[in-house]
Amino acid sequence: ADVKKIAVIAGDGIGPEVVAEAEKVLKRTEELFGYQFETEHALFGGIAIDEKGTPLPEETLKVCQSADAVLLGAVGGPKWDNNSKELRPETGLLGIRKALGLFSNIRPAFIFDCLKEASTLKPEVLEGTDLIVVRELTGGIYFGEKFRRETANGQEAVDTCAYNVNEIERIARQAFEIARTRRKKLASVDKANVLETSRLWREVVIRVSADYPDVELEHVLVDNCAMQLLRRPSSFDVIVTENMFGDILSDEAAMLTGSIGMLASASLGEGSFGLYEPVHGSAPDIAGQGISNPIATILSVALMFRLTFGYHEAADSIERAVAEVLDAGHRTGDIAVDKSKAIGTIAMGQLIVDAMRK
Ligand code: NAD
Ligand code: IPM
Ligand code: MN
Repeated sequence: ADVKKIAVIAGDGIGPEVVAEAEKVLKRTEELFGYQFETEHALFGGIAIDEKGTPLPEETLKVCQSADAVLLGAVGGPKWDNNSKELRPETGLLGIRKALGLFSNIRPAFIFDCLKEASTLKPEVLEGTDLIVVRELTGGIYFGEKFRRETANGQEAVDTCAYNVNEIERIARQAFEIARTRRKKLASVDKANVLETSRLWREVVIRVSADYPDVELEHVLVDNCAMQLLRRPSSFDVIVTENMFGDILSDEAAMLTGSIGMLASASLGEGSFGLYEPVHGSAPDIAGQGISNPIATILSVALMFRLTFGYHEAADSIERAVAEVLDAGHRTGDIAVDKSKAIGTIAMGQLIVDAMRK
């Protein structure tokens, strides 16, 4: 049989809690659809620093490289916040994305109708919101040279932002391809009025757009985009942008869906291999309480089925189950209007597993 290998790296904080629920969904998919998954767990992030002295142990990278896909929870926490760069969980996250060649981060934000009242925005503004942020993931200021130096005015810190034509072109093509399968609208977000990297970004995107005459392209400055996302979210279809802008705009987009606990993501390279993780972090403020929302991670499994395995029916089954459970009024605290009726992580995971059908 065709056994799919999935590396599971749960990480820190609520990572292990939400990943445990996603693993139940994997198990249920095997029962319902007859697929076979072989999961292998590996240490990653803060816990790997504690146990192995590095956030991304060689062994963990090997487990990921020999897998068909990676399921990741989240990393980080106050315990490691004052560590040097090499001993930070976040450095492991950047390292794994780079080492696996995952330059494209896909973050869909769509509104489940019944969650309109969970958002801080007015329901009529949210109506019809269904967008995807395509975030460049292995370049820009995250990966540019960083250093400190002494100056006449004391210490100075420097982060450099660089993008080459190839890096821009490949993410632009991915975004155009995705737009082509949707409403055929692409917003390229930059800061071309100020940044040289953005001016090159815009030039390359315009050149690539010649191959996609069926896709309507608009250029939006990032500050304006941050505003338009709250003013007219439903008018966006696909947004393509550089690493740091994408990080910030996707957390903003999360609030359109009601909570960051709802937003899934896929990180892809050139092939079908992918790393799947919620957009949110390790949420140290609620870790260990069993109240985190597992839906972002569960929906990340649905993305894995679609984008890496081509298991579309199983993905449909997960997404339908989530919608059904939400429609029935079940809510974790982050999406509950009446917080006193909120259910926990495990209860939410179980309801979704039970609602899955072939
Ligand atoms: P965060 O996303 O962890 O939390 C932001 C807020 O959202 C918190 O109030 C948290 O309780 C809430 N939240 C997040 N996920 C939730 C969920 N599933 N259910 C309910 N509520 C949820 O962001 P932060 O607080 O800025 O960062 C905390 C740590 O996580 C930091 O160390 C940061 O570096 C790390 N981080 C990791 C990742 C990742 O691993 N991909 C992503 C973002 C942040
Ligand atoms: C994310 C996170 C990471 C990022 C951090 C933890 C390095 O915020 O996955 O969005 O900025 O990429
Ligand atoms: Mn982020």
